[in-house]
Amino acid sequence: MPKFYRWGIMGPGNIARKFAQGLQVLPEAVIQAVASNSAERADAFAREFGVKSSYPDYQSLAEDREVDIVYVANLHPGHRAAAELALTHGKHVLCEKPMTINAPDTRAVADAARKHKRFCMEAMWTRFFPIMKELRRRLQEGQIGEIRLVQADLGFQANVNPASRLFALEHAGGSMLDIGVYPMAFFHMLLGVPEGIQSDAVLGSTGVDEHVCWTCRFQNHAMAQGACSIQVSTRQEAHIYGTRGRISLPSAWWHPTSMTIQRHGAEPEQVAYPLEGTGMNYEAAEVMDCIRAGALESSIMPLEESIAIAESMDRMRAQWGLRYPMES
Ligand SMILES: NC(=O)c1ccc[n+]([C@@H]2O[C@H](COP(=O)([O-])OP(=O)(O)OC[C@H]3O[C@@H](n4cnc5c(N)ncnc54)[C@H](OP(=O)(O)O)[C@@H]3O)[C@@H](O)[C@H]2O)c1
Repeated sequence: MPKFYRWGIMGPGNIARKFAQGLQVLPEAVIQAVASNSAERADAFAREFGVKSSYPDYQSLAEDREVDIVYVANLHPGHRAAAELALTHGKHVLCEKPMTINAPDTRAVADAARKHKRFCMEAMWTRFFPIMKELRRRLQEGQIGEIRLVQADLGFQANVNPASRLFALEHAGGSMLDIGVYPMAFFHMLLGVPEGIQSDAVLGSTGVDEHVCWTCRFQNHAMAQGACSIQVSTRQEAHIYGTRGRISLPSAWWHPTSMTIQRHGAEPEQVAYPLEGTGMNYEAAEVMDCIRAGALESSIMPLEESIAIAESMDRMRAQWGLRYPMES
């Protein structure tokens, strides 16, 4: 049983830095290697975080026998190839959200993980915060009864810039894949796979979805309402309404540290947990716990659920007629 796990990072950009800072609070994690399509970018990251091996391509990192787990953090359209490369070389994989740009690609990554018998998980970091664990416990106990309605939004104002990945169709930009995936994953976690989805999107001058509103209908008479935007800053809150009360996650709910439980006829209860690290450490800890236990998937973020979330987003894009150039 190894005392520590050696991580390799593909795509050393903004989120990889936050992830690397998160790993620093986990004594069992070591950043062993980093790879970028730019040797300068890889070297700069290696210097910043004291990483032993720096590579100018992903193949070399995949072949590094001193790497146990690869964190895939390049842009969405590159996730599938990077994850498959790592898996076929026997690495475990934690892949940034959205796992890929669509359901067929996500299924291909899941198939590769199963074929090579390696752990693989979408980096849906929200699910691993202690408050989310507590939320799931309270809901399982039926503290607010049966869930009937969920509302969640995530929007921020970005300047329209065709060069930015957010506004570039060729990078599968837009609000849904970048941030709408959080409310959608939240709905799937709470209510399962939607029976029906209705959605609409405003496609901007560069062709990407600049904001999206949608509703999902589930079994048991439950519904969910989501919104995402890269045009306006929204309240960024999540609310779960049950037959015996409600639970609210305040602004920045997708990396939550507190919630308010309001049971019918009772005083509101505030629950809070202090943030440790950058919050990305929680998902990394889940990966290492699963691997240590011999699990090839996380029960909290299983591969079939990543596929189902991608299917839901594919259904929505079909409703607005949006396809990315790399989708043949
Ligand atoms: N979990 C979260 O909270 C969170 C937050 C932000 C982003 N993300 C996800 O993380 C991923 C990376 O986002 P980021 O904001 O970190 O991106 P970023 O800093 O702009 O770029 C990350 C890496 O993507 C590659 N890349 C950047 N621009 C590119 C281009 N024009 N063409 C080809 N490759 C390019 C580069 O990889 P190389 O250096 O290897 O060439 C770069 O190091 C996205 O999938 C995003 O959805 C997650």
